[in-house]
Amino acid sequence: MYESFYGLTAKPFQLSPDPEFFFGSRGHRRAMAYLEYGLHQAEGFIVVTGEVGAGKTTLVQQLLRRLPVNNVVPVQIVTTQLEAEDLVRIVASSFGLPTDTSDKSTLLIRLEQYLRQLHAEGKRALLIVDEAQNLGARAIEELRMLSNFQVGTKAILQSFLLGQPELRDLMQRPEMRQLKQRIIAAYHLGPLDRAETQQYIEHRLAHVGWKNDPAFDTAAFDRIFAVTHGIPRRINSLADRLLLSGFLAERHQLGEQDVVEVADELRLELGPRRGFLRDAAAAPADGERASAEALADFGDEIDAVSTSTALNGSHGGTDRIALSGQGVNGAGRRPSGASSGRVADLEHRVEMLESATGMIFGALKKVLRLLRGRASGAEATERDSP
Ligand SMILES: Nc1ncnc2c1ncn2[C@@H]1O[C@H](COP(=O)(O)OP(=O)(O)OP(=O)(O)O)[C@@H](O)[C@H]1O
Ligand SMILES: [Mg+2]
Repeated sequence: MYESFYGLTAKPFQLSPDPEFFFGSRGHRRAMAYLEYGLHQAEGFIVVTGEVGAGKTTLVQQLLRRLPVNNVVPVQIVTTQLEAEDLVRIVASSFGLPTDTSDKSTLLIRLEQYLRQLHAEGKRALLIVDEAQNLGARAIEELRMLSNFQVGTKAILQSFLLGQPELRDLMQRPEMRQLKQRIIAAYHLGPLDRAETQQYIEHRLAHVGWKNDPAFDTAAFDRIFAVTHGIPRRINSLADRLLLSGFLAERHQLGEQDVVEVADELRLELGPRRGFLRDAAAAPADGERASAEALADFGDEIDAVSTSTALNGSHGGTDRIALSGQGVNGAGRRPSGASSGRVADLEHRVEMLESATGMIFGALKKVLRLLRGRASGAEATERDSP
C-alpha cells in the first residue's frame, strides 16, 4: 500500500522470518558464533532461548543458510503440545522415513538404520525442534534417548532446541539433569539496544530501496525503542503501521508524536499483552534507562541478565552462554509443573480479555470520531447556509 508512495520495492517489515532481511545485531552475531561452535561439535544438544519475537527462528534459518549443504541433513519440526508418543514418529517422518506402523521399536530401528547410513555416506543429521517450550518433560526425554544413537563413540544425531523463556525453566527441573549434561552450547537471545533498533529499522528499509523517504526524527527512533523494548517482531508491527499511517497522512517526515499515536492505536487493537507497546507516552529520555525497563519487563529473566552482565561485562544485552555441561542457567522463579500450566492458561485468558476489550474500545473510538466529524460537518453546513 505505502510502498509506492515511499518508493520502496517491497514491504520492509513483514512478520514472517525472512533470511533475506537478516540483521546481524551484536546478540545475533554472538549467538551465531556459539551455534556454529556447537554445530562443529556434531553431537548433543544446542539450546537457543529468547523472548517471544526476539528472532530465534530467524537465527536458525540464517544458520542453515550457512551450513555446508552437502554433509548436513537438517530437518525441522515445530511442536504444538507434542505428545511423547508422537515424537519418534514425527522425527522419523520428517527424515522421510515410512511411518506406517505405530510400533515404536520398529520406528526406532528404521531411524537408527537411516542415521547409520547417513554416517556411512559422510553425512550427519541435524534435528531442529522449534517452539520447544511446548514439549513436555517426557517428550524431551524421548529426544534425549534419540541422542544415544552412536557409531563407535560418535553420536549420529545432533539436536537443536529453540524456545521461549519457558524452555529455560523446563530445563531447570530435576528430571532434566541428564539432558542438561548433553547440552554443548546454549544461548539466550536478548533484545536489541537503542542504537541497534535504529540500525535494524534502517537495515530493513535499505533492503527495499529506501532513500531516506520517509525520514525519521531521532526522537522517533527513541520512542520506537522505548515502546518495543528492542524486540524485532514488535518493531516490525510498529514500523509497518507507522509507514501506513505516514502514507495515509501523506507525510515524508515522521516524528515522535507519530510513533506515540500509532503505538496507542496498536495497543488498543491488540491489547497490552506482555508489555507490548506499553505506555507509549512514558518513553525514557535515553537508551540506557529504556534498556533497563525493557529488561525489567522480562520479569524473572532479570536474574539471568544481571548475572550474565557481571560475567562478561556486557552492557544492556541479555545474552547468555553455557558450554559443555554447564547447561542453561538462570533458573526462573516461576511456579513449575501443573501450577505453571494453570498460570500460563490464566495469563492467556487475561490476554484474550484484554485484547477483546482493546478491540471494542478501538471500535468505539472510531465511531465517536465519525460521529464528531459528522456533527461538526453539519454545524458548518448550518453556519454556511444563508
Ligand atoms: N536478526 C534479525 N534480522 C532481521 N529480522 C529479524 C531478526 N530477528 C528477528 N527478526 C524479525 O522479527 C520477527 C520475529 O522473528 P522470529 O520469528 O525469528 O522470532 P522468534 O524468536 O522465533 O519468535 P517466537 O518466540 O514467536 O518463535 C520476524 O519478522 C523476523 O523477520
Ligand atoms: Mg520462532
